[in-house]
Amino acid sequence: VQMPEMDLGGGFGIAYTTQDDPADPADLAAGMRAIVEHECRALGIERPALSIEPGRAVVGPSMCTVYSVGTVKPVRLDGGARRTYVSVDGGMSDNVRTALYDADYSCTVANRASAAPPVLARVVGKHCEAGDIVVKDEFLPGDVAPGDLVAVPATGAYCRSLASNYNHALRPPVIAVRDGVARVVVRRETEDDLLATDVGDL
Ligand SMILES: Cc1ncc(COP(=O)(O)O)c(C=O)c1O
Repeated sequence: VQMPEMDLGGGFGIAYTTQDDPADPADLAAGMRAIVEHECRALGIERPALSIEPGRAVVGPSMCTVYSVGTVKPVRLDGGARRTYVSVDGGMSDNVRTALYDADYSCTVANRASAAPPVLARVVGKHCEAGDIVVKDEFLPGDVAPGDLVAVPATGAYCRSLASNYNHALRPPVIAVRDGVARVVVRRETEDDLLATDVGDL
């Protein structure tokens, strides 16, 4: 039996936070090739042409989500520490990965620089759910305030495609940026979009 081509699929990691150190593509390719060559030798067959489907690795790092801050509330934790809850105008409807499988994200205040001492913050959504968390733990400037913009990087994969109209939230637009020029590539949803499938009274 000969196998002309073998598709090894996806699953290549990306840096969601500064703690993540994804493998170098060239090292990964060499490692996969060596494994396949080893197995093919053992089976006495030719090494097939190899292909991969690097979904997340391509689109994940290409996008960030920008939220507006609604309210900011310091909360005293058991043991006396404080965590500042920063609520934003999105949440599990545009990024369910944190709630669904405890994913880690980072974030930064994106509309201004601040020299205020950092505070431990948690970025939460607007959906009235205990699990509606976007970023579990991040240090944000202590003067983060309603109206600030908070950017969450690496949201290009499994965010938009997992997005929902939960609580009838409208999905946000997608903005493409190249060479400092921004343009809308997917427009913001409207209430008419939400109602478009209603068939009315029979
Ligand atoms: C068949 C197939 N290929 C590739 C991928 C992409 O995986 P990843 O985004 O982890 O690279 C998926 C993800 O669901 C998949 O189902």
